Amino acid sequence: QRHLISAADLTRDDAVLILDTAEEMARVADRPIKKLPTLRGRTVVNLFFEDSTRTRISFEAAEKRLSADVINFSAKGSSVSKGESLKDTAQTLEAMGVDAVVIRHGASGAPYRLATSDWIDAVVINAGDGTHQHPTQALLDAFTMRRRLVGRDAGLGQDLAGRRVTVVGDVLHSRVARSNVDLLHTLGAEVTLVAPPTLLPVGIESWPCEVSYDLDAALPKSDAVMMLRVQRERMNAAFFPTEREYSRRYGLDGDRMARMPEHAIVMHPGPMVRGMEITAEVADSPRCTVVEQVANGVSIRMAVLYLLLGGNEPAVTHTRTEEK
Ligand code: CP
Repeated sequence: QRHLISAADLTRDDAVLILDTAEEMARVADRPIKKLPTLRGRTVVNLFFEDSTRTRISFEAAEKRLSADVINFSAKGSSVSKGESLKDTAQTLEAMGVDAVVIRHGASGAPYRLATSDWIDAVVINAGDGTHQHPTQALLDAFTMRRRLVGRDAGLGQDLAGRRVTVVGDVLHSRVARSNVDLLHTLGAEVTLVAPPTLLPVGIESWPCEVSYDLDAALPKSDAVMMLRVQRERMNAAFFPTEREYSRRYGLDGDRMARMPEHAIVMHPGPMVRGMEITAEVADSPRCTVVEQVANGVSIRMAVLYLLLGGNEPAVTHTRTEEK
């Protein structure tokens, strides 16, 4: 059984295969009729226990472009509010004939539990779990960097060796940061995390990246700067940084952006909080790839679904349990 649970499970060849397949999928998106028959007759459920705009909608778009039947499940308004467990929810959905489950959950490890239990037989794709992983976000970010920094055609078969990526902000609560560090390291990029000491996780020394508290020093050495949102919903109110102090030290404004090399891009996984980690001037500048990242997310999710459910292709990933 193949799943996509963590960016750390992907080898360099797995990741490059997904990025190259996503380039093929992007060509489908450029056509007047944006559909492939690949997943006709297969059913995918989008199981969302946490809010989402980009990930939920782009998975749905990707599934529909591959002609899958799509079931959307949101915990809000479901029997989860009556106390139904993840196991019972998943088994209820599988009883209706589901081939793949795309799951977002507030608990780190929920997709791994689903994939490694004997509760269901479906393929499991992690759409973000707690502060743990968001592998398709890391893949769409790598795809965006490869296109912008290497080139759309020149990038085919290539990784991100030697590219310098700076990730800025609330690393402590960010599954996006964790997934990006794992995948960018696998693809040969050099990653620097810039964050206040209070927003770095315990054990950061063992991550395959540098850590800095000085954004101004990191900017001139960056090919891509990825801004993160301060995730207030995961914090005790007593630990909220003040907006003014945070943006003064860790926010990206026009003056700071001018310190970046001319070719360097500004990224953000969204949702952005304009005025906190990024000013409107930067968010709306041509150097900011936030909207491009969303478009690329559809191609990446098509590629992942195609490789996991499409049939004869080589495995793109497997769970850590199977590796042991
Ligand atoms: N980047 C991201 O995961 O956004 P959503 O929470 O809107 O899906």
